[in-house]
Amino acid sequence: MAAASIAIASDHAGFDLKAALIEDLQAAGMAVLDLGTDSRDSVDYPDYGAALAQAVTSGKATRGVLVCGTGIGIAIAANRHKGIRAAHCRDTTDARLARQHNDANVIALGARTTGIEVAKDCLRIFLSTGFEGGRHQRRIDKLG
Ligand code: RB5
Repeated sequence: MAAASIAIASDHAGFDLKAALIEDLQAAGMAVLDLGTDSRDSVDYPDYGAALAQAVTSGKATRGVLVCGTGIGIAIAANRHKGIRAAHCRDTTDARLARQHNDANVIALGARTTGIEVAKDCLRIFLSTGFEGGRHQRRIDKLG
C-alpha cells in the first residue's frame, strides 16, 4: 500500500470491521483518520457518510473507507456529496475496477455481508490500484 492519509468511518454495524481495517492500515504504515463511530451503540449511517465525505473533499484524506451493515446505506450517503465517488465493493474485482474505471475515492464495505479477509483484500487492492484514465476520464467528467 502506498503512503497516504486514509479516512475511515462506520456506523454501529461496521464498528468491529472498522477496527480490524484500522489495525491493518496502521500496520502498513498509513496515517488513519478515524471518524467514528466509537462503539456498537446504534447510530445513523448518514452522519458518518457525511463526515467522511467532508474529510475527503476537503483534502484532509486522500481516500476514504466506509463500513455499515451492507455497505449500501453509507455509500448512498457519501455519494450525495459532490466530488465523492464511493464504490460499494463485495469482492476484489469490484475493488480493482472501482479504481481502474471509476476512479473511486471511497470504498464502502458491508460488515454483515462480506467476510473480514475478503474485506481486507478489497481494501488493499482498492488502495494499491491506479485509475486507467482515457475513456474512463470522459465518463467521470460527465458525473459532474
Ligand atoms: C443498521 O442496522 C443497518 O441498516 C446499516 O448498517 C446499513 O446496513 C444500511 O445500509
